[in-house]
Amino acid sequence: MMIRRLGSGDGDVLRILAVDNARFDEPGQGGALRPLGPDAARRVLGDEKTHVLVAFLDDEPVGFLFAFELLRRAADVGPSELYVDEVGVRDDHRREGVARALLDALSQLARGRGITNGFVFTNASNAPAVALYESFGGVRPNPDDVMFDFRLG
Ligand SMILES: CC(C)(COP(=O)(O)OP(=O)(O)OC[C@H]1O[C@@H](n2cnc3c(N)ncnc32)[C@H](O)[C@@H]1OP(=O)(O)O)[C@@H](O)C(=O)NCCC(=O)NCCS
Repeated sequence: MMIRRLGSGDGDVLRILAVDNARFDEPGQGGALRPLGPDAARRVLGDEKTHVLVAFLDDEPVGFLFAFELLRRAADVGPSELYVDEVGVRDDHRREGVARALLDALSQLARGRGITNGFVFTNASNAPAVALYESFGGVRPNPDDVMFDFRLG
């Protein structure tokens, strides 16, 4: 398996992940994807604070992780933190260590950028995801946390 961070010329990989999205998701989890045209894909992939890591097997993408670098002022994290927005492994390659390898690659990327902390949201009902983050040393600092979505425009 080979893992690399996508760059602005990797629109095709992003397109494959979007076309095959249902195979990387848990049924009933996540939402529909907005198709990204070439310009939008280049913007996402060219953004230095948006990290798209992809695991390839025989040149085929079998797993991905989207993370955003956020500037923080909380004392218990560094000046920047990584928000892991999505992790998905193709349904025929689960339990092979792909997600773990993606998180290890994210740790390596974080170290290179002087970032020490990250966080992710998932659903308590998503047992594989909960097991993955716990096995990676993740903790739930405040079980009382609730997430709200709201419109701003
Ligand atoms: C969650 C998900 C990303 C895990 O990917 P994966 O490549 O299968 O996970 P790994 O093989 O790297 O597993 C690493 C560890 O996580 C835990 N784990 C992962 N999947 C598990 C499962 N189905 N049941 C129990 N533990 C699991 C285990 O501790 C595992 O280590 P082990 O295999 O040595 O026991 C994958 O199931 C997936 O893509 N699900 C659909 C998308 C999704 O729900 N993403 C998370 C949204 S926040």
